[in-house]
Amino acid sequence: MEYRALGKTGLRVSALGFGCGNVGGLMVRGTPGERERAVARAIELGINYFDTAPLYGDGLSEEHLGATLKTLAADVLIGTKFRLTAGDLKDIRGAVARSLEVSLKRLRRERVDLFQLHNLIGGPDALAVAQVRGEVVAALQRLQQEGKTRFFGITALGDPSALHEVVTAGVFDTAQVCYNLLNPSAGFPIPAGFPAPDFRLLLARCREHTMGVIGIRALAAGALSGTPSRHPVAVPTVAPIASGPDYATDVTRAQKLSPLVQEGHAADLVEAALRFVVTGDAVSTVLLGYSSLDQLEHAAAAVAKGPLPPAAVERVRSLWRQM
Ligand SMILES: NC(=O)c1ccc[n+]([C@@H]2O[C@H](COP(=O)([O-])OP(=O)(O)OC[C@H]3O[C@@H](n4cnc5c(N)ncnc54)[C@H](OP(=O)(O)O)[C@@H]3O)[C@@H](O)[C@H]2O)c1
Repeated sequence: MEYRALGKTGLRVSALGFGCGNVGGLMVRGTPGERERAVARAIELGINYFDTAPLYGDGLSEEHLGATLKTLAADVLIGTKFRLTAGDLKDIRGAVARSLEVSLKRLRRERVDLFQLHNLIGGPDALAVAQVRGEVVAALQRLQQEGKTRFFGITALGDPSALHEVVTAGVFDTAQVCYNLLNPSAGFPIPAGFPAPDFRLLLARCREHTMGVIGIRALAAGALSGTPSRHPVAVPTVAPIASGPDYATDVTRAQKLSPLVQEGHAADLVEAALRFVVTGDAVSTVLLGYSSLDQLEHAAAAVAKGPLPPAAVERVRSLWRQM
């Protein structure tokens, strides 16, 4: 496993991380045996970063991750999150602290390595930049001083200008960035009329401020497998994030990338999608949501093949022009 610097934190994270979210769902709906086997195997493969949140299975993901790591007596890096509701905005500091207390109890730990804002930033139903840079940062700095989180970060979803502003503030250690073959705009200029929101090279902005980047939705929730069927443990229906209007459209667009496989650039679309995200060093770790141990094995083998060669990246760029 390759390890990469997580911004200026001093931590080194595995290029492939473990997403304990609701979509793949192994850490939410898997049996205790399945969860233990998957986490043990992930650690054996060298994965050292696990991402969870209170919202994943309404606390079940944190609870299960905590229990599994205790059973395995495993020491890994853990990131969790907090999402503020409209009612929390009267007392952001208190709400952030209370959320972490509950998370620590579920995770059975005294502290987490990373505590991240889970709200959208900028625009309707989102926190304003001023709230994030002001009260949210103050709340997080206090928790850091108390030793309850080592570092803190954002989810880089919401209004692109607002995201660039928050990154430019230079206060956050990390950003979870949606970056994949269906929406490469955080890393590449996209053609005019490209059917996805434009993050306007956010990865370069993160680099300018030495923020650690955690790649999310590398497979567009599974659509980048190019097949519409879902694993029984996965959520049966899923809303896209920053890609097409629905999952079926994402699958259809993913299929347009199949020349990458037909022309021998990758063994399958999943491999192409994962190797795309680890190409270059802009992303510290790519999180993947797993439904099964097989998916974990497959992902680790894909990432082990390393970045896509320049000819494959050029081919992807030509395919984007036809999407
Ligand atoms: N901060 C945020 O707001 C945020 C948002 C989204 C995600 N995340 C984090 O990022 C993680 C990953 O995101 P995600 O789970 O939403 O999306 P994702 O990783 O793009 O997609 C997960 C889906 O990909 C498919 N898959 C995984 N490995 C595969 C393989 N080897 N071969 C074929 N298909 C495979 C599975 O689909 P099937 O089950 O249908 O087979 C799985 O459900 C989450 O667990 C979470 O930790 C954070």
